[in-house]
Amino acid sequence: MRTRVAIIGAGPAGLLLSQLLDQEGIDSVLVERQSAEYVQSRIRAGILESASVDLLTKAGVGERLAAEGMEHRGIYLQWPGERHHLDFVDLVGRSVTVYGQTEVTKDLMAAREAAGRPAFYEASEVTPHDIDGDHPHVTFVDSDGSPQRIDADVIVGCDGYHGPSRQAMPQSGLRVHERTYPFAWLGVLADVPPSTDELIYAWHHDGFAMHSMRSHRISRFYLQVSPDEDIAEWSDDRIWEALSTRLGAGDPDWTLHTGPVLEKSVLPMRSFVTSPMRHGKLFLAGDAAHIVPPTGAKGLNLALADVALLTRALTAWLHEGREDLVDQYSDTALRRVWRCTHFSWWMTMMLHRRDEEFDAQLQLSQLRRQVASESAAAELADNYAGVPIGY
Ligand code: APR
Ligand code: PHB
Repeated sequence: MRTRVAIIGAGPAGLLLSQLLDQEGIDSVLVERQSAEYVQSRIRAGILESASVDLLTKAGVGERLAAEGMEHRGIYLQWPGERHHLDFVDLVGRSVTVYGQTEVTKDLMAAREAAGRPAFYEASEVTPHDIDGDHPHVTFVDSDGSPQRIDADVIVGCDGYHGPSRQAMPQSGLRVHERTYPFAWLGVLADVPPSTDELIYAWHHDGFAMHSMRSHRISRFYLQVSPDEDIAEWSDDRIWEALSTRLGAGDPDWTLHTGPVLEKSVLPMRSFVTSPMRHGKLFLAGDAAHIVPPTGAKGLNLALADVALLTRALTAWLHEGREDLVDQYSDTALRRVWRCTHFSWWMTMMLHRRDEEFDAQLQLSQLRRQVASESAAAELADNYAGVPIGY
């Protein structure tokens, strides 16, 4: 089989890339290790920056997002005794939208199917070849067990942290920047209407807690736990008690509604950046190149921004033979990646409990500053609502 762009991985990055390329009249083929059902059922992030909403709308998948996405003006920041609203619209003129990654994925998959663009799900042994040469191609074994080969002009690795694309680059030329954190999140999806109109980020002596949501009926919560936490220790009752203590500390008149827990899991927290994001005819986008801790809600937005940049670059190359934008892709993308890496690290370090009381006092002072100083609040708002895609 021959195509112009072979895309490895059908998460939000791969799916959006194939959609944007299609709008430019550029053929692509997706190769994904998991089944379509599995990809659609993964519970992931839930916040879209305004630029991500615009991008998905321009990509032609904004209809359900406009109807079902919940636009939020800002967030609540709290610590024991105080809860404050930061209004991003007042501060920087931009909002965010609550719309699950699962829904973004479903919309993009529906658009791909409607356009009849080819995708191979349940592919194994997916391997990029000849990324330095004139015949880049991807080989794999399809879901029927037959060997396949896709010849392309370029290969894009949208295959997440564990995928084969980053491994296919010459390791001597790659720089990896990494930080692991001494905390993890216990993520909880619950069948209960949110007890708040907008997200609550809570500092607490027992550890960070967050109240997010997926819809008017489904809530999403996170609790800071230790990276080696045994989930078996967390009964539903213990989860609700911890959430109620930590989230309730900001406002004595507030009540947390409880309900059935639908899913719970422990999520590690890590920062990871690979540089460069291109070698020869192989480009990386999204989690394949970088991971952020979830505190700033940046992972999904960064993945979408990467493929927006890459689409522009590949279009100039494949349509006009112009190589300037593909040559700049890695540097341009990495500038935004590092901005979001810093913001996610900063939010993480401000909100998570550490052992020393000295750290706690610094964090509380910083939190008070975020709400007392308009310029401090605007800096948080500008980063959270999202810097421009070509930042
Ligand atoms: N072959 C083919 N596909 C693969 C392989 C492989 N060997 N390994 C991984 N994949 C697929 C995964 O199954 C997954 O569907 O690549 C896809 C990568 O998708 P995501 O992990 O969702 O990454 P990305 O599209 O970059 O989106 C980033 O996902 O993890 C979250 O917080 C992150 O929200 C952010 C978003
Ligand atoms: C989520 O809803 O999953 C979510 C929201 C905000 C974050 C992280 C995760 O900062």
